[in-house]
Amino acid sequence: MRIIFYGNHNKSAPWIAALQAALPGAEIEAWHPGAAPADHAVLWGPPQQLFDEQPRLRGVFNMGAGVDAFLHLKLPPQAVLVRLEDAGMATQMAEYVCQAVIRHFRDIDFYEREMEQGRWSFRKPLARSDFPVGVMGLGVLGSRVAQAVAHFDFPVAGWSRSRHEIEGVRCHWGADQLDEFLAATRILVCLLPLTPQTENILSRATLSKLRPGGYLVNVARGAHVVDEDLVALLDEGHLAGATLDVFRTEPLPQGHPFWNHPKIVMTPHASARTLREETVAQIARKIVAFERGEAIGGIVDTGRGY
Ligand SMILES: NC(=O)c1ccc[n+]([C@@H]2O[C@H](COP(=O)([O-])OP(=O)(O)OC[C@H]3O[C@@H](n4cnc5c(N)ncnc54)[C@H](OP(=O)(O)O)[C@@H]3O)[C@@H](O)[C@H]2O)c1
Repeated sequence: MRIIFYGNHNKSAPWIAALQAALPGAEIEAWHPGAAPADHAVLWGPPQQLFDEQPRLRGVFNMGAGVDAFLHLKLPPQAVLVRLEDAGMATQMAEYVCQAVIRHFRDIDFYEREMEQGRWSFRKPLARSDFPVGVMGLGVLGSRVAQAVAHFDFPVAGWSRSRHEIEGVRCHWGADQLDEFLAATRILVCLLPLTPQTENILSRATLSKLRPGGYLVNVARGAHVVDEDLVALLDEGHLAGATLDVFRTEPLPQGHPFWNHPKIVMTPHASARTLREETVAQIARKIVAFERGEAIGGIVDTGRGY
């Protein structure tokens, strides 16, 4: 079995070594133009040329959970596209979102500013019941996040395409229930995949339906957000703030209005990092199962877009 690796960076060697250790019988090399035909590809951010030159690929294993970058590429028709499922990202996402929700609810920004100024002052405690959290996307990451937030006793709702039942989470589904979900939400968390249906979903039309003093936590993809609408709603005061980990263009271009906006907290796409050990173990397990003809999880429905 031949496997090609493409990491879109110059740190391929430790990944290939880890894959080789997990699949000792396989012949694994970094992809380069003209590489011999392979059975599987383990990739992040591949160019179209790779697929054009690898018509025999049967498995295409993405080293990430989101596959939006693949929706614009043409894969060999027989190849299945497989995404990462959790692989250590769900706990990281739960940590990140809980800290953003709690940081906002507990007014930590205010206290940090006051302490920096040498002031010892207090704000009135707020009622958790006034900060209902709504999670868009109840998949591998969203369901874990919704449950983690619910453990802090916030009222939690979720919204997905199909019906879900999650303990402690009021579940909504489908376009018909979106408005009801938004109207009941104050802190909105986005964990949707980026598809033609979800691009620009966080716009004035949707964000203005949140409860007054709404707050956005976007940890999915930058293109879910209409940037100008978000800035306008923050400036108008309908939204109290936003925590953004992902951006339409990454790195975020200098001069973008998000930089230095007083109501925006940002991180550089760092909410859930790809962990080498977990990622390699999961992909190696799936390749072995695939070769045996067994069913594997995480096969992308490219028609649906996730
Ligand atoms: N910032 C980061 O570092 C980072 C890291 C990893 C992932 N991500 C992002 O997180 C996303 C989610 O990952 P995941 O593993 O949780 O994905 P997943 O398991 O595929 O879950 C996707 C969820 O979104 C729902 N959904 C999809 N299209 C919808 C639509 N049109 N309307 C309503 N709901 C819709 C799905 O509904 P159903 O359950 O009904 O199918 C599902 O609940 C990824 O696609 C990626 O963009 C970001």
